[in-house]
Amino acid sequence: MDSFGRTVDYLRISVTDRCNERCLYCMPEGYKGWERKPDHLTAEEIIRVARVAAGLGFRKFRLTGGEPLVRHDLLEIARAMTAIPGVECVGLSTNGTRLAPLAQPLRDAGLRTVNVSLDTLDAALYRRITGGDVNLVLAGIRAAVATGFERVKLNCVLMRGVNEQEIWPLVLFAAEHGLPLRLIELMPVTSTEVLTERNFLPISEAMRLLEQRDELVPQPSPYLGWGPAKYYLLRRTGALVGFIGAMTNPHFCETCNKMRLTADGKIRPCLGDHGEIDLRDTLRHAPSDEAVREVLLAALRRKPLEHSFRNQYHPGRPMTAIGG
Ligand code: 5AD
Ligand code: SF4
Repeated sequence: MDSFGRTVDYLRISVTDRCNERCLYCMPEGYKGWERKPDHLTAEEIIRVARVAAGLGFRKFRLTGGEPLVRHDLLEIARAMTAIPGVECVGLSTNGTRLAPLAQPLRDAGLRTVNVSLDTLDAALYRRITGGDVNLVLAGIRAAVATGFERVKLNCVLMRGVNEQEIWPLVLFAAEHGLPLRLIELMPVTSTEVLTERNFLPISEAMRLLEQRDELVPQPSPYLGWGPAKYYLLRRTGALVGFIGAMTNPHFCETCNKMRLTADGKIRPCLGDHGEIDLRDTLRHAPSDEAVREVLLAALRRKPLEHSFRNQYHPGRPMTAIGG
């Protein structure tokens, strides 16, 4: 439990800051701030953190990046993590471009859920937003569904003037494939050109857009796992849509249950707060797991009440370096 009485049992682990895409909202143009290889945690170090965290009561884990599937030993990490006693669920957040050939091996490694970023179905716009090929992502989503993951969710970051007209096609796509779709407010985690007031599209507005076409039936909260989304069932289309209002929902942080581990071995108690506690040094120099435990607990004690995104937040490190 943190200092505010919230149960924190979810650790998001960024396994790399590298990515094969260049999303407008994640990576500053011409970004060169990559960590050096030796600064990344090794598979063994990541697994050790997960083991100690599970011993402290962490139950749910997620592998993220950057793009986790660019890391060559990801299957090894996934296999070891799912075998740790106390680990109930290990999920993956991915851009989906490398998912098609890896879906089966990832499922075999014991991963249970996959979240795929998909901001548009339109190939040209997808390329503009991410630099990548949407057909690879669609193939990845199909493969994940065919492989029998317990849950495959779609994530769409809302950007006014960029992809608001894409919301409805995404809703239809989500309904057709029976996949929950999450609409996410743009957060100022990175300094890129897209992060302006003008491009910000609040979830309230996305909700109004959907209400013009369908009836939104609120679902009980929390729903579909442990996430921060508020879900609605669209009565006619049958789509399940989650709204993530990190910027406009004043209660957003009240039920926060997570901390992050960055690829370079820092514990980040809150995505929207600069505070980070180094764990890598301890992992490399302290032989006992007790020391690792202490750092995790110290980080937990420093988890802030809420994020600072509304207080003229100036991003320190971009999303790709923190972990999505
Ligand atoms: N604001 C909101 N969401 C973001 N993501 C990455 N950067 C941002 C941002 N600045 C999303 C990705 C991915 C998820 C892990 O985080 O689209 O789906
Ligand atoms: Fe890569 Fe994900 Fe960042 Fe896009 S949002 S650049 S896919 S890490």
